[in-house]
Amino acid sequence: MNSQPLARGPSRRLMLSRGAAAVGAGTASLLLPRIARAQSGKVRVGFMLPYTGTYAQLGVAIENGVRMAIAEKGGKLGGREIEWFKVDDESEPSKGVENASKLVQRDKVDVLIGTVHSGVQMGIQKVARDSGVLSLIPNAGVHAATRALCAPNVFRTSFTNSQPTLALGKPMMDKGLKRAVWLTWKYAAGDEAFEGFRDSYTQAGGTIVKALGLPFPNVEFQALLTEIASLRPDAVVCFFAGAGAVKFIKDYAAAGLKDKIPLWGSGFLTEGVLDAAGPAAEGIMTTMHYADALDTPRNKQFRTAYAQQFKMQPDVYAVQGYDTGQLLLAGANAVKGDLASKAALHKALETAVIDSPRGKWTMSRAHNPVQDMYLRVVEKGDNKVLGVAAKALADSGAGCRLT
Ligand code: BEZ
Repeated sequence: MNSQPLARGPSRRLMLSRGAAAVGAGTASLLLPRIARAQSGKVRVGFMLPYTGTYAQLGVAIENGVRMAIAEKGGKLGGREIEWFKVDDESEPSKGVENASKLVQRDKVDVLIGTVHSGVQMGIQKVARDSGVLSLIPNAGVHAATRALCAPNVFRTSFTNSQPTLALGKPMMDKGLKRAVWLTWKYAAGDEAFEGFRDSYTQAGGTIVKALGLPFPNVEFQALLTEIASLRPDAVVCFFAGAGAVKFIKDYAAAGLKDKIPLWGSGFLTEGVLDAAGPAAEGIMTTMHYADALDTPRNKQFRTAYAQQFKMQPDVYAVQGYDTGQLLLAGANAVKGDLASKAALHKALETAVIDSPRGKWTMSRAHNPVQDMYLRVVEKGDNKVLGVAAKALADSGAGCRLT
C-alpha cells in the first residue's frame, strides 16, 4: 500500500534541515535564511503501522493515541503545523525496509512513527540508522532496537519484549504454579518474551516443562492444546496479541482447559481483545506496563477523553501511541520546532519525563522506558490491577554503546 499525505500543505522539503545538521558550525550562517524558511513549514510525520492483518487494531489504536496527545496541545509541534503520511506495513517483515524507505526517501518525513511487529521494526531500524531520521517506536519490542543496534535517533515509548515477562516468575511461584508450559508465535516478539519468562520463572524456582510454538500469524492451535492437556502443567504461559490472541483465548476455553490449567501471559494477551473474547478471558493473569483499571486521575482522564473521541475503549497500544505523541511534543517544543537541531532534540527526548496514563516514566540510557510492571487479572471484562509486580523495571540495554 502506498503512503498517503493526509493533509495538503506547502510541499517544502526539510531535507535542508538534515543537510544543515551535517555541516560544520562555520558554514551554518550561510544556511540560516533557508533553514528559517524550512522550519516555518510543516513538520512531516509518517506513520508506518499495520492497518491490515492480525495487528490492524493495534495500528489504529497507536495512531489514535498519537493524534490525541498532539491535538490536546493545540495540534502543532514546536509551533509548526503537521503534514501526516501513512504506510500500511501489513506486519510483513520482508517489506520493512521498502516501506520505511517510502516514508524517509520519498516522503521526506522528519519523524517516522512505527511500528508494531518486531520483525518489521528491524527494517525501520536499518533505515533509521542509515538516514538519521528520528524514529519513534510505539510498540515493537525487539531487543536489538535498544540493545546492540541502538542509535541516537531511535527512541522507544513501549517496552522490550522481555520486560513484561520478567515480572511473571515471582507471582506465579507465589501461587504455587511450579511447572509451566510456554506457548507463542515463533518470531522475535515471542522468543524474546520467552527469555524474560524463562529467566524470572526459573530464578524463582519454577520448571518449564515444554516450550511450544507456531509460526506468526498462524492460529491453528488445536494440536498444541491437545499436547498441553496431555502434559498437565500447573499453568500455561504465552505471548499472543491482537486478533490471534482472541482466537487463542477462545480455543483454550473451548478445549476445556480454562477451568483446569490457569492461563498466564505477557499482558498483550488480554489487551484490546476483551470484548471479542468475552467470558473465555475471565481469570487470565498477566503482567504489563498498563492496566485499564489503574486508579489514577491521569488514567481516568485519558480513558474518558479517548472513549469520547474515538467511540471505543483505549488499550495499552493507545497509551503507547499517546506517549509517543507526548514525547514528540516534548522534543519539538524544546527545540522550538527546529527538528534539525539533532543534539538538542535528542537530549530533550532522553531527559523527558512522560506523564503517562500508565504512570510516569523516563528513558533508559539505551532509549527504552523505565517503568512499573503491573500484575493484572481479567475480571468482568476489564484488566484489573492486583499490584505492582516489578517497580521501575529497566531493560538491560546490553550491547548499546550510547552514553
Ligand atoms: C512485537 O512484534 O514486538 C509485538 C507485537 C504485538 C504486541 C507486542 C509486541
